[in-house]
Amino acid sequence: MQTPSFLSKIVLAPMAGYTDAPFRMLCAKHGAGAAYTELVSASALVRKNPRTFEMIRQCGENYPLGLQLFGSSAQEIASAARICEEYVQKKECDAKFIDLNFGCPASKVTKIGAGSAILATPQKAGEIVRECVRKCSLPITAKIRLGFKEKNYMEVARIIEDAGASMICVHCRTKEEGFSEKFDWNALAQIKGSISIPLIGNGGVRTPQDASRMMQETGCDYVMVARGALGNPYFFSGKSASVVTQGERLCAFLEYLSLARKCDWLQSEYLKAHALEFASGFKGANRVREKISKAKSPEEIETLFKPEMGAASHNSKQALAVCFFRV
Ligand SMILES: Cc1cc2nc3c(=O)[nH]c(=O)nc-3n(C[C@H](O)[C@H](O)[C@H](O)COP(=O)(O)O)c2cc1C
Repeated sequence: MQTPSFLSKIVLAPMAGYTDAPFRMLCAKHGAGAAYTELVSASALVRKNPRTFEMIRQCGENYPLGLQLFGSSAQEIASAARICEEYVQKKECDAKFIDLNFGCPASKVTKIGAGSAILATPQKAGEIVRECVRKCSLPITAKIRLGFKEKNYMEVARIIEDAGASMICVHCRTKEEGFSEKFDWNALAQIKGSISIPLIGNGGVRTPQDASRMMQETGCDYVMVARGALGNPYFFSGKSASVVTQGERLCAFLEYLSLARKCDWLQSEYLKAHALEFASGFKGANRVREKISKAKSPEEIETLFKPEMGAASHNSKQALAVCFFRV
């Protein structure tokens, strides 16, 4: 069993609609120890859906990248993992490990028996991990929640470890708790005490200080951050959103655009989602966000920021203010 070796203690979470290649690269550049793709359908990979292959294609990501799969059939998920491995061997995909999604609460995922629904039948989680380990030689990791309705994380974590997973990430909320303010770090400490594979803790981390506290209080090996990194890749170099200047936000968004262009990933939905996150937390932001929301193409979003691109010093506070006020 191989264990992916992360470059630092804080890693970027998988986030549908956000963790595209340019954003992952940006976060890695600012210190993320690893990053994940958003959840990718195993079934679509097996059916050779071209749009799904577009989501996993190679972009030159040379840090620990986890490719996250979801599905409900152990055979199908393992076949998809094998397909990904073949792509990696042909240098058409940058993944260094395969992560299994056992935590998604979205009804379109759970109604097919995938994501967090798998937690209701822990043996199924074990079967999926075992089959993936058997068919694919990339490291296999899993991301779970504390349970579907009932908390059964101790049983699930042990089953996943016994089935051969090389790491486990625990989002310390149940499916029912969604993304609420309720989270349970004690559960992380309990799991850490009962498994020997590395544990990634997730949930309730809004600042780099929270991340340090989570590691101290739970003993987890790594911390995964999702929403805290949106619009703030500086999280990974230790900066909370509250201390990031407007100029720094602009600078990071311009870096995102440049990476997106470099790896040919200038797609409307992702670009808009990120533009909205970067354009927040300053006076007049609502007006700017409204314009971004109405934009119909990547080019239109780019134009909103264009006047200052290249001309202004990217890390001056003024640059962002001027840029936004021209919008
Ligand atoms: C917009 C959004 C999309 C997400 N997509 C995924 C996903 O594709 N796969 C996954 O395992 N978790 C996904 N998550 C859950 C996060 O990875 C993470 O577990 C959760 O947000 C808790 O972390 P946080 O408190 O740092 O936000 C998503 C979360 C958000 C907010």
